[in-house]
Amino acid sequence: MVPKHIAIIMDGNGRWAKERGKIRTAGHQAGAEVLKDIVKAADNLGVKILTVYAFSTENWKRPKIEVDFIMQLLGTYLKKEIPEFNANNVQVRFIGSRNGLPESVLEELDLVLASTAKNTGIILNLAINYGGREEIITATKKIVESVQKGDLKVEDIDEKCFENFLYTADLPAPDLLIRTGGDFRISNFLLWQLAYTEIWTTDTYWPDFTPEILQTAVVEFGKRERRFGGLGN
Ligand code: FPP
Repeated sequence: MVPKHIAIIMDGNGRWAKERGKIRTAGHQAGAEVLKDIVKAADNLGVKILTVYAFSTENWKRPKIEVDFIMQLLGTYLKKEIPEFNANNVQVRFIGSRNGLPESVLEELDLVLASTAKNTGIILNLAINYGGREEIITATKKIVESVQKGDLKVEDIDEKCFENFLYTADLPAPDLLIRTGGDFRISNFLLWQLAYTEIWTTDTYWPDFTPEILQTAVVEFGKRERRFGGLGN
């Protein structure tokens, strides 16, 4: 079975660049190019939602020059890709905190979200300034506010209710998480949503990731038995 929702931790851009004697930002540039092909490949495989970790709440700790480059890359990439997204019926969405993102990035982001909102094909969900813990705390604050206002009763807070306050409110949890770059960490990505997600990792650095590797991951996923805590078949 093809996973409906794939999440990807696009790791290894810096190491990819270093191995080629290039500066780290060249890896991010190459990574952005690869993403285009992977969106198309995922769509062709029948994947409905692709959530990609483009910038974490922890990535602000990186040297300013790298952070500035990634922010600029996000802005320019998003704007430049609008015609392509529309040609391929890709609906772009955003998860993360708007707080702290440069105004220019927010403007380009809002433009791409509005320009692709009516598309009905694959959803490209961009995690930018995203952290799983931040998301859970933000959701908790919203829930407390709702209770204080009298819109929500404490006894009505269950998993379904909690999920409705997350950035991913109207999306199903990922079926498959792919991490490139050889590490075996979640890195504060989709902490709530990954509870029963199948994890597949590869040593391949993100800029070297290909549609063929994506297909391998999807085939491997198809062989897994998902029991969701039960006993299976
Ligand atoms: C991880 O590689 C990658 C990032 C922190 C940034 C991801 C950004 C992109 C793939 C490009 C921009 C994305 C979009 C949506 C246009 P790393 O720098 O941690 O690599 P390393 O582990 O080798 O140092």
